[in-house]
Amino acid sequence: MTGGSPMKFPEGFLWGLATSAYQIEGAVDADGRRPSIWDTYSHTPGKVDNGDTGDVACDHYRRWREDVDLIASLGVNAYRFSIAWPRIYPTGREPLERRGLDHYSRLIDALLERGVEPVVTLYHWDLPQALEDEGGWRNRDTVERFVEYAQTCFDAYGDRVRWWLTINEPWIIGLLGYLHGLHAPGYKNDVLGEVTVFHHLLLAHGRAVQEFRASGAGGGIGFAPNLSPHYPASDSDADREVTWASDGYVNRWFLDPVYRGTYPQDQWERYEQVVGSLDFVRDGDLATIHQPTDFLGINYYSFRMMQAAPGDRPWPWRVVVPEDVETTGGFTGGVASTEAGTPIVPWALTDLLVRVRNDYGAPPIMITENGAVYEEAPGPDGRVRDERRVRFIHDHLAALHDALEQGVPLVGYCHWSLMDNFEWKLGYAQRFGLVHVDYETLARTVKDSGRYYARIAAANALVPAEAGPA
Ligand code: FCB
Repeated sequence: MTGGSPMKFPEGFLWGLATSAYQIEGAVDADGRRPSIWDTYSHTPGKVDNGDTGDVACDHYRRWREDVDLIASLGVNAYRFSIAWPRIYPTGREPLERRGLDHYSRLIDALLERGVEPVVTLYHWDLPQALEDEGGWRNRDTVERFVEYAQTCFDAYGDRVRWWLTINEPWIIGLLGYLHGLHAPGYKNDVLGEVTVFHHLLLAHGRAVQEFRASGAGGGIGFAPNLSPHYPASDSDADREVTWASDGYVNRWFLDPVYRGTYPQDQWERYEQVVGSLDFVRDGDLATIHQPTDFLGINYYSFRMMQAAPGDRPWPWRVVVPEDVETTGGFTGGVASTEAGTPIVPWALTDLLVRVRNDYGAPPIMITENGAVYEEAPGPDGRVRDERRVRFIHDHLAALHDALEQGVPLVGYCHWSLMDNFEWKLGYAQRFGLVHVDYETLARTVKDSGRYYARIAAANALVPAEAGPA
């Protein structure tokens, strides 16, 4: 609250809910869809906790009408979802699957009829398996396959969609898919694979932006990196140095090429030391990546607190949990954490936004993801009392408002997630939704946090959390 009145957001601010295709759709064999790398990965024993897969998920592909009504009932004016590439080009290339294409067309129309802006992600990790069989993102040819798929989507939906995102979280794709083996396609300790894939994802982004301009579609386009502000664990020079170094790995490796047309020299040299030559970066690639974007999507979950760890491979640092973190998920004045153990640091979001504005000019920014794991289920009266998520939303929106007051051009916020869903390697155990999903019956129940978020969207202002749900 400022001066007793709620914190207002700019007129036209987008209040959104976010999902992605593989995490909610299910219906993996419907309408000609063929497997993606996530079908393969989740069906490989031992990869996903509890043996969970996206086969059914929230059954959203079949229940989409009901879900659009649910979205509208929350009074939001934006919905971020991703298109499943394997529904449009089941083998990653021609022939086109018209039934898949028509599905998203109907979804877009239904959203627009209810006053909800579609925010469309083209790539949220479900690469057609047929392309992985040819080397996946390691293979430069995948960039051209992605561009064909993107062109098809621009042609089909460009008359109606005004917010496009090319690639979701390129850093996570490399880190978890090539270094830690925790996400599809599941490679481990493959630093060369990681950095090759980063480059091809960035190139895919730049090429898609070029095609978007050429298509004459209205609206705007950007990408959605996950960014983490970095802080040293101590004042020592060594901790400060690795803080900057890791920032190069996580943040600057993606922002510098897109907004400056260069890779950060320090991280380039670190990669060269580990993998030798980065000769997959060809002349002209950086100019291709360096396309003006209409907006920048940022996925924000937490900060990274860094400690030097000389000799650690491939990078000489460690991410540490601050000493005063409360792992109970409570709010006790120190740094609390979610049930997933993620430190909750809303103020770092303000820092991040001001920094991106200062260092990279001022592209309009949309928070494309932000959310937390809390497991509350319906009580005997059917109500889901997830007060901690209410508090989480309140505190992050206050941080966002702070950034607005400091002149950061923010255009929207999409909460992750509309509903509980398939949380990748962690399966269904971790619940991020504003809407609870009962995985036995697939019933959806709006949580207290969902009602709270609806009040915020209706007021276009941060209403106090204490007032409870309407
Ligand atoms: C992000 C992903 C999203 C979801 C959230 C919790 O890394 O983009 O799909 O899993 O984390």
